[in-house]
Amino acid sequence: MTMKIPHPIPYQGSKRALAKYILPFFPLDIATLIEPFAGSAAISIAAAAHRKAEHFHLNDINSSLMALWQEIITHPEAIAAQYEVLWQEQQGNARAFYDRVRDEFNRTHRPDCLLYLLARCVKASVRYNANGDFNQSPDNRRLGRNPEQMRADILAVSKLLRNKTILTSVDYTEVLACATPEDLVYMDPPYQGVCTTGDPRYFSRVDFDTLMQELDKLNRRGVPFILSYDGRTGEKSYGQTLPEALGVSHLEIKTGRSTQATLLGRADMTYESVYLSRNLVEMLRVAPAEIIAFHADHQAALFDFEAMS
Ligand SMILES: C[S@@+](CC[C@H](N)C(=O)[O-])C[C@H]1O[C@@H](n2cnc3c(N)ncnc32)[C@H](O)[C@@H]1O
Repeated sequence: MTMKIPHPIPYQGSKRALAKYILPFFPLDIATLIEPFAGSAAISIAAAAHRKAEHFHLNDINSSLMALWQEIITHPEAIAAQYEVLWQEQQGNARAFYDRVRDEFNRTHRPDCLLYLLARCVKASVRYNANGDFNQSPDNRRLGRNPEQMRADILAVSKLLRNKTILTSVDYTEVLACATPEDLVYMDPPYQGVCTTGDPRYFSRVDFDTLMQELDKLNRRGVPFILSYDGRTGEKSYGQTLPEALGVSHLEIKTGRSTQATLLGRADMTYESVYLSRNLVEMLRVAPAEIIAFHADHQAALFDFEAMS
């Protein structure tokens, strides 16, 4: 039976569709699954639904987003009701209403306003200007997720994460410093190719060399990790490759045909890169080459998530 995984926060870059490819690499008995770049926390939600971890630590530099997470997990009925009020009020004058909610959010950082903005804005994409104001435009073709569906997802996620989740809003390096060998760290930093203009509080550039040093520290402390980082379309790769000295295993997950290639009448596929730490591969008791070969040869079988759970 296919399990429906709730996903209340619409978020550009969500790993919702990739969760089924990533979760099979989780070791057994994870003390805490740590997501230092949580965003909409797609991997933690899927892990909780499939009982791959008992405790969770969600962190994101965007403090308004973490305040929204706090509401979703601890006051699900209230935030669902507030979203419904905003969603209903927009009827008949959605364009002007969006601007009013955006102004209100920029004044108060109210979590319900952020949820409404994410549900309504172009590509569910968080954009702030240099003053730290949310400045993304609305997608005028849609009114945002229906309040009933939103409520169902909020309640379901609250049930999955309540009383087991730590929420923080600090730089990822601070979170990594607390990780232990019993935990699993899943990292999904902003990709190297992503434009980093805007308010540094929300788009603090994740420097490649610093990230590599942080991965090295995790290796030395024996903390297992999985990193999603860049990828390629056809033959064109994005971002620098990771230093060999880190000893990570590199997997590529086929995510579909690129929109750009389709427009140009080509059939280029897009692949997302996933890196597994050396000690994680040791825990899985399978050689990296075998994992990768298995991935290539038996993609459908290995990643038929329902069949595995
Ligand atoms: C690609 S998104 C993560 C998406 C997430 N995996 C999901 O499923 O929704 C990257 C996130 O990293 C956050 N971020 C950027 N710089 C950060 C930093 N220095 N420390 C912590 N979080 C950061 C951003 O706010 C953004 O939400």
